[in-house]
Amino acid sequence: MRGPQGPDPRAGTDAAPPAAPTPSPLPLTVLKLGGSVITNKDDNRFEVRTTALARLAAEIATARRDTPQRLLLVHGAGPFGHTMVTRYNIARGLTPPRGVEGFVRTHHAVQELNQAVLDAFRDAGLLGFPVQPSAVIQQQNRRITAFDLGLIRGLLQLDPEVIPILYGDMVLDHTLGASVVSGDAIVAHLAAALGATRVALGTDVDGIFAGDPKLDPAAQRFERVDRDNFDQVRRAVRGATTVDVTGGMEQKLLEIRARLAGIEVAIFNANRPGHVELALRGERVGTQICF
Ligand SMILES: Nc1ncnc2c1ncn2[C@@H]1O[C@H](COP(=O)(O)OP(=O)(O)OP(=O)(O)O)[C@@H](O)[C@H]1O
Ligand SMILES: [Mg+2]
Repeated sequence: MRGPQGPDPRAGTDAAPPAAPTPSPLPLTVLKLGGSVITNKDDNRFEVRTTALARLAAEIATARRDTPQRLLLVHGAGPFGHTMVTRYNIARGLTPPRGVEGFVRTHHAVQELNQAVLDAFRDAGLLGFPVQPSAVIQQQNRRITAFDLGLIRGLLQLDPEVIPILYGDMVLDHTLGASVVSGDAIVAHLAAALGATRVALGTDVDGIFAGDPKLDPAAQRFERVDRDNFDQVRRAVRGATTVDVTGGMEQKLLEIRARLAGIEVAIFNANRPGHVELALRGERVGTQICF
């Protein structure tokens, strides 16, 4: 018991050691694997490209071994989202008679694709943890108005090995009943809110070109997009040649411009073996974008 004369003389021995300085967190990368990479989007078939997924998961595992970083993965939907939404005619709201059914079935379809991604991650020894977008995001008129980041922050703090995985989904919408949230919008929101160091968007073309390279194979690629050439680039980008209800390349660029000022973003071809690995190592791949 402490006497009236002053501090307990044993205090020095019992006192807790000075707290170690909290290590600064590892840099955070947000990586997107487009639906055009992990599904047969070109053929508009509900098929997971399991061989590509296995290669991509292995590249992520290899890159993370020698380039320590926290990683957050978002994947696109391909036909599992875009084609379902088109079939049920719910891109602009839950139109009767089958709108609600379409909302529910589309969510099931993208979850099925998400399970395939989780399986590939597990097989590569990665600790992917699914975060269901419809459980944490709400929208108004197809724009994100609420995004509960608690689970994602908690997973990233728990251990840098854990990789939260989100995906393009259908979520409740205060104006439209339910609406699509694209993987690109999720990437932009998360990278801005969590202070990502790097954003890498893997798709099925080598970056942003002066015309859709699938329609104009001679179109030149932009090495870099910034404020100086934005107007020129803006005129060159279109949606997609495939079924894409969230605006393809055009909307990707606009999401980046709206939310990711000051963050280095790469749009690159994840169908090229080794390019996801290079992107995670911070090497230049595809078109670099910074506003
Ligand atoms: N100027 C352009 N440069 C490059 N690609 C372009 C351009 N204009 C349009 N595109 C199209 O953008 C497509 C990529 O966007 P898309 O949204 O389809 O891919 P994704 O994000 O991988 O798929 P998902 O939306 O299913 O996740 C390319 O396949 C290409 O056809
Ligand atoms: Mg798209």
